[in-house]
Amino acid sequence: MSKSSKVYISELKDNVEKEITLSGWLYKGRSSGKVQFLVIRDGTGLCQCIVEKGNVSDELFEQLKKLGQESSLRVTGTVRAEERSPGGFELAVTAAEIVSAASDYPITPKSHGVDFLLKHRHLHLRSQRQWCIGKIRHTVIDAIRTFFNDNGFTLIDTPIFTTMAGEEQASLFGVDYFGEQLHLTQTGQLHLESAAMSFGKVYCFGPTFRAEKSKTRRHLTEFWMVEPEVAFIDLPGLLELAENFVSFIAARVLENNKGQLETLGADISGLENIKPPFYRLTYTEAVEILTGEKTKQFLASQLSELKKQKQQIEKTIAELEDRQGGKLKQWQKDKIAAELIELRGELTETETKIENNPKHAELSAEFRWGKDLGGSDETIISQMHDRPVFVTHYPKDAKAFYMKTDRNNPKVVENFDLLAPEGFGEIIGGSVREDDHDILLERIKHQDLNPDDYKWYLDLRKYGSVPHGGFGLGVERTVAWLTGEKHIRQCIAFPRMMDKVYI
Ligand code: 4AD
Ligand code: MG
Repeated sequence: MSKSSKVYISELKDNVEKEITLSGWLYKGRSSGKVQFLVIRDGTGLCQCIVEKGNVSDELFEQLKKLGQESSLRVTGTVRAEERSPGGFELAVTAAEIVSAASDYPITPKSHGVDFLLKHRHLHLRSQRQWCIGKIRHTVIDAIRTFFNDNGFTLIDTPIFTTMAGEEQASLFGVDYFGEQLHLTQTGQLHLESAAMSFGKVYCFGPTFRAEKSKTRRHLTEFWMVEPEVAFIDLPGLLELAENFVSFIAARVLENNKGQLETLGADISGLENIKPPFYRLTYTEAVEILTGEKTKQFLASQLSELKKQKQQIEKTIAELEDRQGGKLKQWQKDKIAAELIELRGELTETETKIENNPKHAELSAEFRWGKDLGGSDETIISQMHDRPVFVTHYPKDAKAFYMKTDRNNPKVVENFDLLAPEGFGEIIGGSVREDDHDILLERIKHQDLNPDDYKWYLDLRKYGSVPHGGFGLGVERTVAWLTGEKHIRQCIAFPRMMDKVYI
């Protein structure tokens, strides 16, 4: 190999007209007789490499021509600016070294079903979509840490083995701990409250476990949650913290990941709109909206819009199927096949939405004060707003024991959920915490929890109790919302769901 310097694709802009070496994998290749176009990926981007017959040995030219997708290689050549190339640069190849030739890579451009891709997640991570989502997730996590570190919060690592329930008991994962029955943590909040009484402003950030029996697009059994907790804060203070926090994350993603958002087809102008103040509704107002005329009209016009969309997709599918019958080159056939799979997926999804619309209309019309908002209720409310919506003051009996009873209206608690816009639904849940010892004890008993398990937690209300509160933001839901990904399983490298733990 030549002595040219090793460069990453992300550094090509600083190496125009220089001879460099890229190390990576063959993403796709195409040959037109005397020229080959090899698209290489190296973890930082894609680069089209041009191999012209005569510029490399005939033997290498033939080897490269036969090289299978995802073979690893090093290529040396001169960097040229080229607008039409992915990334804006290309490499005029003068030498190449095949590191490991691959054949029959199972994930082809043909597109595959969700199940197949999940079973091949170890390889599917190399796809452009998964790569873009992974880069955005990285920014989200970095922004989360930066926001809290720069705003005077101290990181506290809360335990994963716990003795008590923080959220619904039904979603606890049991663990045999040397003969004793413990649980995997559902939230770090309770321990964090103890730390807030020492450090004032704290946060924890780690994996969280819920034995969720629901197989929805919003639920994983293992997910990442960040939870801030603040001493001496009230509900308006918490809402302000949450809207600044979420706006900061969105701004960082726009700043660092525009290219990836574009590749994913994310709603960039929608994200540019994510700035404080967010909308604020009480639960009671949300119920009025759900059961009111406006929602009825909204769902009716949505239904006719969906029906139009369905017709349009069916028309495009029919056209493509027609073209498929004609005489085409292999790459054109592959392209149409991939588009068809995508469109059929969209069609199924639109049909499901058409089917669900009347159910949602019925559910929302029949919604009665007292119930927790369900997935479809959240979807409707967030679809009706172009920025995130806070819903506050839920009925006490629909919510967790630790939430503070509103002293002005004891039927509700001082809590909030933050619903991401355009139908995405809840990404944050939080509250002011009950700080009165006796009221908290009463709530623990009322929810059939064992007061002995909460002795230390009750202690915090005995020794210098203060108004305090916090919230939890789910990383995968946030990434799904920002990227426009429909299912949160795509937003973590190795997802765990009720019925699926493949890899
Ligand atoms: O609303 P949740 O259950 O709130 C708590 O756990 C509080 N203890 C947080 C606090 O106040 N410190 O969960 C918070 C967030 C949800 O809004 C959602 O984004 C995410 O965690 N989440 C899930 N994400 C993926 N899969 C699941 N099964 C999730 N359950 C909750
Ligand atoms: Mg919640």
